[in-house]
Amino acid sequence: MCGIVGYIGTNAAAPVILEGLSKLEYRGYDSAGMAVYDGNQIQIKKSVGRLKVLEELTHGGATMPGVAGIGHTRWATHGAPSDVNAHPHYNAQETIAVVHNGIIENYLPLKDKLISKGYTFTSDTDTEVLAHLIDYYYKRTCKDGTEGNPLVAITKVMHRVQGSYALGILFADHPDQIFAVRKDSPLIVGQNEEGCFIASDVPALLKYTRTVYFIENQEVVRLRADHMHFYTVDEEEITKEPVTIEWDTDAAEKGGYEHFMLKEMYEQPKTVTDTLLPRLKNGDIVIEELCMTQEEICAIQKIFIVACGSAYHAGMTGKYVIEGIARIPVEVDLASEFRYRNPILEKGTMVIVISQSGETADTLAALREAQQRGHKVLGIVNVVGSSIAREADNVMYTWAGPEIAVATTKAYSAQLIALYLLAMKFGKVRGTIEQTQFQEMVEDLRRLPGQIEMLLANKNRIQRFANRYVGAKDVFFIGRGIDHAISMEGSLKLKEISYIHSEAYAAGELKHGTISLIETGTLVAAVATQNMLFQKILSNMIEVKARGAFVLAVTTQGNTEIEKAADYVIYIPDTNPYFTNSLAIIPLQLFGYYVAVGKGCDVDKPRNLAKSVTVE
Ligand code: G6P
Repeated sequence: MCGIVGYIGTNAAAPVILEGLSKLEYRGYDSAGMAVYDGNQIQIKKSVGRLKVLEELTHGGATMPGVAGIGHTRWATHGAPSDVNAHPHYNAQETIAVVHNGIIENYLPLKDKLISKGYTFTSDTDTEVLAHLIDYYYKRTCKDGTEGNPLVAITKVMHRVQGSYALGILFADHPDQIFAVRKDSPLIVGQNEEGCFIASDVPALLKYTRTVYFIENQEVVRLRADHMHFYTVDEEEITKEPVTIEWDTDAAEKGGYEHFMLKEMYEQPKTVTDTLLPRLKNGDIVIEELCMTQEEICAIQKIFIVACGSAYHAGMTGKYVIEGIARIPVEVDLASEFRYRNPILEKGTMVIVISQSGETADTLAALREAQQRGHKVLGIVNVVGSSIAREADNVMYTWAGPEIAVATTKAYSAQLIALYLLAMKFGKVRGTIEQTQFQEMVEDLRRLPGQIEMLLANKNRIQRFANRYVGAKDVFFIGRGIDHAISMEGSLKLKEISYIHSEAYAAGELKHGTISLIETGTLVAAVATQNMLFQKILSNMIEVKARGAFVLAVTTQGNTEIEKAADYVIYIPDTNPYFTNSLAIIPLQLFGYYVAVGKGCDVDKPRNLAKSVTVE
């Protein structure tokens, strides 16, 4: 959570920083601030509220002249969102400014120590400790009134602090340079003819450069207007290889759509195609990144899928699909639970972690836990070069491109495809599916992008339906089997962006308590895509209707009984029953989106949330 940027070059820094922050607001948006060296001193402006408050405060950066600066967009951890807790933080003389993404775990003892040395604190943040600690070590490097050594001060601090951090640091004594360091929080740097840049994530730099360096844990970068130097925590200079980012420059722009979420929903046919097609070769599925021999695939006894949020919901679908197709037992775990529950990982267990950002703290910790227990981990990851992508033993990328809206849509759809491919690959190698069945499934996969497009084209009808529910108090989503997995994701989409209470229930569980919540007019969305289970879900629909519910059914064509029982029906096209989630999720995403739009919610930046949850 939190995004940091920095710039030093030949242009005015403040507009570049504001532009970069606008691409990182998905990481947190409760306050924003920047520090720019104006030729004499460091000027700091910061404010609680969205980035636009900072833009207004600085007239788009015009009131903060200077060619070197750092900026921050915040998701509060230590200290409530407020002007004083907003970053940057600085030392008493305002000669050192720091922006921080992460958490300093030992900030309290460090704070006590600094207070005992005469330092005073104005905020409740852990970050302010860093500003004073850098000041403390920096002053110790100033001999006989000379300027100090920033690199020495920064590395001393890195040896003292525990926790996670990506920092941008500005020294008034050294206005021709800015510094960046990282440990366990993402950080990249880049360069073009007009300067050097720091950012938490690629979208902030796409407008300026696509050649970037991924900074590793415990590395320091000194950036000047025309070059960068990289160091270890022991101040040894190192060389690093640049990486070219393939995303095109408008990938992080709204491109005429009202919201990123809508744009990203519309990108799903492409996302599915991009994740699928490179892995379909000569009638077979080829997943080179898997790096597993046929013997190794046959030796899998069990699979653990570990993830958070929507990635966890994708994992739930994966369980049904892998168990059904490849007949391998699958356990799906929330990463925050997996890491602390001492999971039993026996020989022959394969661990898969799923993450859009590749930075989710709990998922990363779960990956490390599995590795420490001697298991190789496959990462299904969207962001190239992210922490999970780098630490996983093998990585299967979901080629969804940058996802900006906090509520995921296209990355989730790509995760489903990756899981289908794994299930089919495993099934084929292990002989649990026939060749003809396999070929039919490949054809069904190929049809998905076009079918998703058809469902998206139906958006006006769903918008009209959604408008009726902007005032809803509770909404329930029910389904059985694979349809339960999709209900979970449909429910999350609605609640996270519209703030309407919603729950997903395995339809058979309704009678064990939840049915008492049904009142006249309560909306129950029933997902019914599995032939085998139609009669069962039908009974559940009738039960809730009898208690006054209004039933929306998401189902396959020609289902007359479901049609009769439901008050409103949305059809999905025909596909293999294992792939229906890829289609059923589209109207549910649109429903959540249009309810939130109808309520006037900030769809791309829902309250209290952030896209990358880099803290526990
Ligand atoms: C946040 C996002 C969700 C996402 C979850 C896991 O809660 O808002 O959309 O599913 O984190 O994130 P990851 O990047 O690991 O997929």
